[in-house]
Amino acid sequence: MTRPPAAALDARLAAYRDRIETVLDVVLTLPDPGTPRLRAAMRYSSLSGGKRLRPILVYLTGSALGAPLEQLDAPAAAVELIHVYSLVHDDLPAMDNDDLRRGRPTCHRAFDEATAILTGDALQALAFQVLAGERDPAAGDAAARLDMIRLLASGIGTLGMAGGQAIDLESVGRRLDLPTLEAMHRRKTGALIETSVLLGAVAAGARSGPLYDALHQFGTAIGLAFQIQDDILDVAGTTEQLGKSAGADAARAKPTYPSIVGLDEARRLARAQHDLAVAALAPLGDRAADLVDLAHFVTGRGN
Ligand code: IPE
Ligand code: IPE
Ligand code: MG
Ligand code: MG
Ligand code: MG
Repeated sequence: MTRPPAAALDARLAAYRDRIETVLDVVLTLPDPGTPRLRAAMRYSSLSGGKRLRPILVYLTGSALGAPLEQLDAPAAAVELIHVYSLVHDDLPAMDNDDLRRGRPTCHRAFDEATAILTGDALQALAFQVLAGERDPAAGDAAARLDMIRLLASGIGTLGMAGGQAIDLESVGRRLDLPTLEAMHRRKTGALIETSVLLGAVAAGARSGPLYDALHQFGTAIGLAFQIQDDILDVAGTTEQLGKSAGADAARAKPTYPSIVGLDEARRLARAQHDLAVAALAPLGDRAADLVDLAHFVTGRGN
């Protein structure tokens, strides 16, 4: 398979970022004149850059299976709204107590804690509203919508993101063994990334079968690789480069891949997940070229 040069990937990622920015802008134009502060905080947190990896996964997966982009906008927006909600809550003083996110003050710093809690709540509700297809001319198949709602709900609940975040908070100051750390990472971060891939597949009409299974394996591996790389960057990156405080994990005694296995082994394990992810895509053949590139991006990224 011929690889397009990295610059071509960057340009394509930028185009998807522009697209999701526009979709989010529309979705976050909320008809509620009574709560301007809450709506401002939702827009502040959501329209603030970021890599947009999760919506990009929806677009790339759906496109690989032949879906038009308009059919993918709703799930792409939904996963990013959920992700932003998770960041806003993750940064709260009761959780990671961070001041900087995407190069700007965190939501509770720019607004206040109560507003940040409500911002997360409202973003989560909005994600499901969008996914349910309210007022969406491209909404399409109701059964597919229901499948996507189920997938997203289970990816972010007790068995997924929220459960992983609970384990993360219980683990502060503890030295986890590697399987426990891996399970935590799979839930707190991997689950939403995996879900993003699956939503792209379902939106494209693939709700089971060998391609769905291949994409599922890809999403699982790339999700874990992503959080290992996040841990690595906390050690190896700078605050300026990351747009969030470098060294925050060690400062808060969080168990991470570098703290448990060392930086070199963490890099090797991220690479191993990358390789698993790429291998899983084999049944898709050339259709997976963009997803293969994205796997390189996930483990090669510097922020
Ligand atoms: C940060 O996610 C939080 C984790 C789940 C590790 P990203 O690194 O995707 O953050 P943005 O969206 O690019 O800001
Ligand atoms: C965040 O993990 C996971 C979720 C937001 C669900 P981290 O706490 O490592 O993310 P950063 O490093 O603050 O972005
Ligand atoms: Mg955290
Ligand atoms: Mg954090
Ligand atoms: Mg982190």
